[in-house]
Amino acid sequence: MGLDIGTSKTSAVIGEYNENGILEITGVGVAPSTGLRKGVVVNIEATLQSVAKAVEAAELMSGREAKVCYVGVAGANVEGINSRGVVAVTGKGREISQSDIDRVIEAARAVVIPMDREVLHVIPQTFIVDDQKGIRNPLDMIGVRLEAEVHIITGSVTTAQNIVRCVNRAGFKVDGLILQSLASSKAVLSADEKELGCLLVDLGGGTTDVLLFSDGAPYFSASVGAGGAQVTNDLSIILNVPMDTAERIKRDSGSCFMPHVEIDDLVVVPGVGGRPPQEVPRARVAGVIQPRMEEIFRLVRERVESMGYWRLIKGGVVLTGGGALMPGAADLAYEVFGIPVRTGAPAAVGGLVEEYRSPAFSTAVGLVMMGAERLAPEEVETRPRSGEKQKQKTKSGAIRKGLGDWFKEFF
Ligand SMILES: Nc1ncnc2c1ncn2[C@@H]1O[C@H](COP(=O)(O)OP(=O)(O)OP(=O)(O)O)[C@@H](O)[C@H]1O
Ligand SMILES: [Mg+2]
Repeated sequence: MGLDIGTSKTSAVIGEYNENGILEITGVGVAPSTGLRKGVVVNIEATLQSVAKAVEAAELMSGREAKVCYVGVAGANVEGINSRGVVAVTGKGREISQSDIDRVIEAARAVVIPMDREVLHVIPQTFIVDDQKGIRNPLDMIGVRLEAEVHIITGSVTTAQNIVRCVNRAGFKVDGLILQSLASSKAVLSADEKELGCLLVDLGGGTTDVLLFSDGAPYFSASVGAGGAQVTNDLSIILNVPMDTAERIKRDSGSCFMPHVEIDDLVVVPGVGGRPPQEVPRARVAGVIQPRMEEIFRLVRERVESMGYWRLIKGGVVLTGGGALMPGAADLAYEVFGIPVRTGAPAAVGGLVEEYRSPAFSTAVGLVMMGAERLAPEEVETRPRSGEKQKQKTKSGAIRKGLGDWFKEFF
């Protein structure tokens, strides 16, 4: 099960391997979430209720209990750093073995991390064997010196503990924490995009999280502390309606790209406090939404540019998250970014019903996909060409848990 505890909703997605060893989604459950602010739990009770409801709904749909649970983490407290390590190849005949690869990754992750942070992911970007650069998988190559470049993602220990706490108190065990945007990227990005270099922009309720891929691996991540909730808030103030009404108007009639809005289109704004309902031009609604969305995109661009990484985005920008459902989002983003933009939704997974093939479910679906890959080998029976049944063999548990995962996830 993948569990995405967002600022606006909690989604639980249950997946199972079918008889052909292919992951299929069997259940999805969603519940409103009110206990988080900007991706951080501020109310344990509200969050655990939301988790319990979402999981219950997913279990009901799937007809099974969720056994293994991967939970997403995000927000401003997540940080990514690039690091490198070097080791001498020790294998017979200088042939690079799995243990050399494990050692070099260990060396690369040996950076000083503050006490209040923990490592969530160590993802190999590229290997260098002697002077040969850009190697994806150095296993069995011959060399003297093995170097690894990795991306290390760390999160705040207390934030993670609070998330685990909520899930535990809702009655479930957490088997792994995964960066939300990494999970989304799994669900929506193509291998080509990651290879070329692309920017994933997850437009959530409380935050907008970005993850930059370069040469097939994550390179930079950041979180902008503004999301769809700000857009709703602006509407609520300017149209003088409560937040839930503003949210409905935004979803039903919103647009963030003026050129798409018909000049004489009208939107009905329900009356509040005895006032009669009112008709306002849809252009006025869009006029409130557009500047805020534009600001979010500008902040994203600034964050990436300030690091000097904008030039790495050769495969375009992919928008996802609930905010990507806003009509005109990709067009507005294209105006701000000046490079190709598309909207990404989870699609490459079986069993997912249409309703959930939406950008709002990228994270939850990605979590179940990543979780499933971590579990795959032992359970999956592969069918060799001879037709004979054979269990897929895996390396020693420890190694598989470590590096095996990374390779499967990213190469
Ligand atoms: N059809 C729609 N049109 C416009 N905006 C939408 C639509 N559906 C959802 N949204 C907006 O998307 C946002 C929620 O996105 P999402 O479900 O990805 O957030 P979340 O994962 O709960 O939050 P976060 O990732 O910030 O913790 C809300 O602000 C909501 O208003
Ligand atoms: Mg989210």
